[in-house]
Amino acid sequence: MTLSIGILGLGAIGTIMAAHWREHSLFAVGRPHIPPTRHLQTGESVLARWPDFPPSQDFTLPVWTGESLDWLVVTTKARDTLNAIQQIQDHLPLVKRLLLIQNGMGQQQQLQQWLTAEGLACELWQAIATDGGYLSSQGDNSRSYVYAGAGEVMIGRWQADPDNHVPVGQLPPHLTVVSDIHRRQYMKLAVNCVINPLTALYSCLNGELVTHPAYLQQLLRLSEEVLQLGQQLNWDLPTELPELIQQVATATGANRSSTLQDVLAGRPTELDYILGYALNCARQAAIDLPALSSVARQLELAASSPLPQADG
Ligand code: PAF
Repeated sequence: MTLSIGILGLGAIGTIMAAHWREHSLFAVGRPHIPPTRHLQTGESVLARWPDFPPSQDFTLPVWTGESLDWLVVTTKARDTLNAIQQIQDHLPLVKRLLLIQNGMGQQQQLQQWLTAEGLACELWQAIATDGGYLSSQGDNSRSYVYAGAGEVMIGRWQADPDNHVPVGQLPPHLTVVSDIHRRQYMKLAVNCVINPLTALYSCLNGELVTHPAYLQQLLRLSEEVLQLGQQLNWDLPTELPELIQQVATATGANRSSTLQDVLAGRPTELDYILGYALNCARQAAIDLPALSSVARQLELAASSPLPQADG
């Protein structure tokens, strides 16, 4: 069965998903002045994992003009979600499901509240993706990405009392439905609350957070605070969170975190929806997070001054 899928935000992850869904009927959703032509080149690990995956592909997706969609997949930055969806509000009655594949938390509640207030019935789904890619070049009419790391995409209904079920034939390839998307999201938030701000603050690779003693000390302090927050707010985080965060930093050691990439490219970061979300939850529950608050303050300074270096 051919699915109709719109992709809003054709960056690295949107382009990678388009490649996975290339047998389906795809549309580029959103600003028509951005040409929807993309080139995707795959890395070795990706080819090894999917022998039938083309090493290089070009896509020119037709611009969505309100055709009915089985899925509208949003891969914009978290902060742009509500605004981008509001701009296509008139066409939303023709969308069965909205799927957010993004970092961060907070945008889901905003969007669900708005959908409910507007009486829009499309289902809201949330994804955690571990595929990795990056922009390699950009022309007037196209953008080229490298699909660098083969991962997986887990999805689940956003609402607390969900019918977490996708009818047969309606699930796009490469997606897996899970029953515990919220627990996984809190886990990802916890990891991102530690690795992303610290790598941005110290302008370092993920791996340096465990090899550099002063950075490691900070990583452990922040991890403990996030763990305490999660325990008080029933986020169901594992008690070995600090070790797990070290493992992620080591496993992605040669990577620049998405936040550091944003800082280096002069783009706004997603920290409002990562660290900012955690600090808001803490404030509402009157929980003190001194180390995380201090890092947040330093990063606000860092936006207008050179990135500070850690001692030692
Ligand atoms: O945001 C990121 O960069 C990633 O989620 C992670 C896990 C920190 C690895 O770089």
